[in-house]
Amino acid sequence: MRRIALIPGDGIGPEVVGQARRVLQRMGEVVGETFELVEWNLGAERYLREGVTVTDEEFRALSDDHEAILLGALGDPRVPGNEHARDILLGLRFRLDLYVNFRPCVLLDPRLSPLAKIEGPIRIEIFRENTEGAYAGVGGALRKGTSDEVAIEQDVNTYTGVRRIVRAAFEYARDHDRPRVTLVDKANAMRYAGDLWRRIFAEVGEAYPEVERDTMYVDAMVMDLVRRPTRYSVVVTSNLFGDIVSDLAAELTGGLGLAPSANIHPGRHALFEPVHGSAPDIAGTGRANPLGAIRCVGLMLSHLGYADGARRVEDAVIRSLSTGRTTPDLGGDLTTEEVGAWIADDLAAAPSGS
Ligand code: NAD
Ligand code: IPM
Ligand code: MN
Repeated sequence: MRRIALIPGDGIGPEVVGQARRVLQRMGEVVGETFELVEWNLGAERYLREGVTVTDEEFRALSDDHEAILLGALGDPRVPGNEHARDILLGLRFRLDLYVNFRPCVLLDPRLSPLAKIEGPIRIEIFRENTEGAYAGVGGALRKGTSDEVAIEQDVNTYTGVRRIVRAAFEYARDHDRPRVTLVDKANAMRYAGDLWRRIFAEVGEAYPEVERDTMYVDAMVMDLVRRPTRYSVVVTSNLFGDIVSDLAAELTGGLGLAPSANIHPGRHALFEPVHGSAPDIAGTGRANPLGAIRCVGLMLSHLGYADGARRVEDAVIRSLSTGRTTPDLGGDLTTEEVGAWIADDLAAAPSGS
C-alpha cells in the first residue's frame, strides 16, 4: 500500500484534484497497487474560518506519514496577501527542502501550440531552483505606509543551493539523453549572483562532457523561446526566473491547464502540483482542465517506481488530445469531470505498453 496526501486547496484545485484522484485510483487497479489517498483540507476556507494555515503537527504528518503529496492550487481573492499559500505551498517547498522544481513543457500535439510555425518537437524541461532566490523571504520594510517607505526583497543564492540544482539538471540531461543544458540568468545586471551561477554551471558541467551547455540572459531567452522553441532542451534557472519562464513555456505547449510539475528533494520528499493556480475566474464552472493535475499523477507514478503506469497516463492524455476529448481551453466541449472519466476509462482499457 502506498499512502499519498492530497491537498485540493482553493478555486479549481479541488475540481482538478478530484479527477487526478480518480485516475490514480483507477491506475491502482491497473498496476495492482492500493493507493491510500488521505485528504488534507488546508486552504483559504480554513484560514478564513480558523485563522490557521498549517500547524507544525500537520507538517510533520504530511512529510513523515505519506510517500508523496499531490496539491491542487492555493490562492483566493478573499486572501489578497496570499498568506495561507505562502505558509502552505512555499512552506512545504522550503521546510521539506524540495530543491528541484521540475516543470516539463512538452508539445504533446502540434495543434496545441499558439505559434504559427514550429519546426520539430518541443520538449523544454525546466529545473527551477525551489528553496532560495527572491523567494527566500529575506528582507523587510521600513517606514511602511509613508512616502518614505522602503521595501527590500533579497535574492539569496548559496553555493550549495545553486550547485545542487545545476547538478540535478545535468544528471537528468545525461540520464535522459537530452542534448543540452541552458543556464538562464541575468548575469549582465545581477553581477554577484550571475557570477556564482556561471562559475558553478561551468564547474559542474565539466563532469558531463556528453551534455552541451550554454547560457542565456532571461530577457533574450524568453524572446528566443517564442522564436525557436525547438532548440531548448533542459533549462536550469533561479526560483523567480523559473516561475516566469515555466508559464511561458507551458503556454507554448498547450497552456497552463496542461502543465504538471514536481517539487522534489531526491531520496526524501516529493510534492506534485499543476503549474497553474486556483483560477478563480473559472472556479465552479466545470471548465477547468484537469490534465495538468492528471499528468502530475504520471510524474508521481514515475517517482514511485511505476514507469509503465506513468507512460499509460501520458498516453491516455495524448489520446484525449488527439481525439478532442478536452475542456474548452483546448477547444473541446467536455467538462472537468468528463475529461477525468474519459482518461480513467481509456487508460484502463489500453493494453499495457501501448
Ligand atoms: P491561474 O493559473 O490561476 O490562472 C491564469 C489563467 O489561466 C486564468 O485565465 C485561468 O482561468 C486559466 N487557467 C489556469 N488553470 C487552468 C485550467 N486548469 N484550465 C483552464 N484554464 C486555466 O493564475 P492567476 O490568476 O495569476 O492566479 C490565481 C491564484 O492562484 C492566485 O492567488 C495565485 O497566487 C494562485 N496561484 C497558485 C499556484 C499554486 O498553488 N501552485 C500557482 C499559480 C498561482
Ligand atoms: C507557482 C506559483 C507560486 C510560485 C505562487 C503561488 C507562490 O506561481 O507554483 O508557479 O510563484 O512559485
Ligand atoms: Mn507560477
